[in-house]
Amino acid sequence: MGRALIIGCGGVASVAIHKCCENSEVFEEICIASRTKSKCDALKEKLQGSTKTVITTAQIDADDVEALTALIKEYKPGVVLNLALPYQDLHIMDACLAAGVSYVDTANYEPEDTAHFEYSWQWAYREKFEKAGITAVLGSGFDPGVTGVFSAYAMKHEFDEINYIDILDCNAGDHGYPFATNFNPEINIREVTANGSYWEDGKWIETEPMEIKRVYNFPEIGEKDMYLLHHEEIESLALNIKGIKRIRFFMTFGESYLNHLYCLQDVGMTSIEPIMFEGKEIVPLQFLKAVLPDPASLGPRTKGKTNIGCIFRGKKDGKDKNYYLYNVCDHQECYREVGSQAVAYTTGVPAMIGAMMVLTGKWTAPGVHNIEEFDPDPFMEALNKFGLPWKESFHPDLVDSCE
Ligand SMILES: NC(=O)c1ccc[n+]([C@@H]2O[C@H](COP(=O)([O-])OP(=O)(O)OC[C@H]3O[C@@H](n4cnc5c(N)ncnc54)[C@H](OP(=O)(O)O)[C@@H]3O)[C@@H](O)[C@H]2O)c1
Repeated sequence: MGRALIIGCGGVASVAIHKCCENSEVFEEICIASRTKSKCDALKEKLQGSTKTVITTAQIDADDVEALTALIKEYKPGVVLNLALPYQDLHIMDACLAAGVSYVDTANYEPEDTAHFEYSWQWAYREKFEKAGITAVLGSGFDPGVTGVFSAYAMKHEFDEINYIDILDCNAGDHGYPFATNFNPEINIREVTANGSYWEDGKWIETEPMEIKRVYNFPEIGEKDMYLLHHEEIESLALNIKGIKRIRFFMTFGESYLNHLYCLQDVGMTSIEPIMFEGKEIVPLQFLKAVLPDPASLGPRTKGKTNIGCIFRGKKDGKDKNYYLYNVCDHQECYREVGSQAVAYTTGVPAMIGAMMVLTGKWTAPGVHNIEEFDPDPFMEALNKFGLPWKESFHPDLVDSCE
């Protein structure tokens, strides 16, 4: 049916590429293009004997808009799937505009020199994408991604209005290291060391990092400590969900992770301010990334499960209603299937599905859109088919037991 250009060949991309190859009716041809071509070639070598998808590879620096535009024009894909880092988003969108090809990503733009992410930079491209007649789907991972699809599904099928959303991201996996991150350490640490915030009654309420803690009894996992974080989907869901009064995002962290993080922060190792070291300028956080375990190496060691989902509270037919949609994923099963742990798996599968929605024409809307703006039904069906089946509960435990 179509051809996709995939940019990046890290942990998330590796899963998405496995899944494209499992879905060769849709992804007849893919080109894996990344900064380090040898990684693309190694993945091609691993997969090409067992799939009908025709795989090619290319070396690209996605920050070179001219070179990327030339690559897109030459390969002529039906969609560009951006699985590089958030710093590349705007350059890849520029290249998609110049080449007239639709765009899908999993994380919103973040300038490399400021630990701050918000959608305004990408939303500023709306008119240009509309005029070019091409679609941009923003945030097609799990969170953001499936959490937005879950919200659209709940709105479409279960509620007349949704008033409260709590997004809960639990990783109960144990990799045996005292400290390691499950995806790109630089992006992960920038996210968790930032101030927290949530949306209530039309405005943002800011908190200190890790200031708000709750304990939640996760289905199939048990009780875990979780902390309120700022997260990008809150910004778009606040605009797109009818009747919304409050949206919060919580992520679980173990004691060892937090103790190490505080210590690294206290000694300045998580800073993104460049310093001089032996005559050379280095960024402490980038140096830390270099000494931490590569997330891709955690796959064989990680045991346990993830549970990510949304608890909705609102009204249906004039009555109060609570509803919980979630997915449980097992690290070891993911590793057996695609050679990656569940954090990469739960992001890579929805990334493939987002690209599939565009390639098959199920989601076409010229402009720049967040994922909850599209019909959730074909995406929900694909989650069940491609390894992330969802579960629902009509009587969930709530986050604040007093509510
Ligand atoms: N929505 C979600 O649920 C969710 C969850 C986790 C992660 N994410 C997002 O997923 C994305 C990928 O994360 P990851 O853990 O897979 O990261 P990763 O393992 O570090 O992989 C990033 C890949 O991008 C490549 N790259 C970096 N800069 C590039 C450039 N200028 N041009 C071309 N390629 C470039 C890297 O190339 P090298 O191999 O040369 O370094 C690497 O292959 C990130 O944006 C992350 O924020 C989203």
